[in-house]
Amino acid sequence: MANPAFDKIVSEIERFADTAKDFASLQKFSVDLIARQLPDYNWVGFYMLDPHDQNVLLLGPFHGTPTEHVRIPVTEGICGAAVAKGETVIVEDVAADPRYLACSIETKSEIVVPIRANGKIVGEIDIDSHKLNAFGADDRHFLELVAEVCGRFLEN
Ligand code: SME
Repeated sequence: MANPAFDKIVSEIERFADTAKDFASLQKFSVDLIARQLPDYNWVGFYMLDPHDQNVLLLGPFHGTPTEHVRIPVTEGICGAAVAKGETVIVEDVAADPRYLACSIETKSEIVVPIRANGKIVGEIDIDSHKLNAFGADDRHFLELVAEVCGRFLEN
């Protein structure tokens, strides 16, 4: 992975997951670590599918400015698109993407990575950057590894 911080962050999250008491503490640890270590990752949060309504994503632990988007239907937003497509979505310029639901006027680009447990999407990791085109293949690979650690934790 291009950024040497990526490897270290994944290892730390794996280590934390080994003894984490619940998923919420793993989520909180992960968003805080990622946001603190990576200066272009300006908002880092989880959205998880509502166990009572698989058509809605609910905001989970996050690091960054509070957002009004605490419930996102899977038919809306970049967040919804990642679930609907079942794959990572990278938006280089949010202003040019009609799906985008604004959280902060400072946000310029976004990446959303699905989390799977037992083969099913259960939620996602969402990152916003104040930089245009902040996310590439290395970020995607890194965040997909973090999503795998989260998925494995939920399977156990
Ligand atoms: N921008 C997201 C909404 C969530 S905020 O980024 C925190 C979207 O378009 O789905």
